Amino acid sequence: MTKIAIASDHAGFEYKSAITDYLKKRGYEVIDFGTDSDKSVDYPVYAKKLCSAILSGQCEKGVLLCGTGIGMSMAANRFNGIRAALCPIPEYAKLAREHNNANVLCLGSRFIDINTTLRILDVFLDSEFQGGRHENRVNQIDIQ
Ligand code: RB5
Repeated sequence: MTKIAIASDHAGFEYKSAITDYLKKRGYEVIDFGTDSDKSVDYPVYAKKLCSAILSGQCEKGVLLCGTGIGMSMAANRFNGIRAALCPIPEYAKLAREHNNANVLCLGSRFIDINTTLRILDVFLDSEFQGGRHENRVNQIDIQ
């Protein structure tokens, strides 16, 4: 079963706990890279921890949460090999996997209700990269 890394800042902390429980119920092994409370922290610190875990092979996919998901996606996409997609609707999550082979899902906890968030997550995890014409494009993303 896929190992999932998860991390958030203070704004995403509550959703991180709910998502972790949900993923465990779905049978995933979840590795939590913090933060551990709703005390204010800096999101790039947690994005870095999660991206390192994916790039080292410790985890296959990741979920990053902050208030909007924007800061987390900006920080995560600085790393070659990370393809972080900010997905406000399930259709984005499907295409982020099928066309972009996204390995990190970014979510904005202040703008999406928890049920929609879990639906986005399900679609992200259940969709597969289609390869083909998308492969060559994805291969051009990283900075050489
Ligand atoms: C924290 O207030 C907020 O700025 C942060 O969670 C995130 O939305 C940044 O992109």
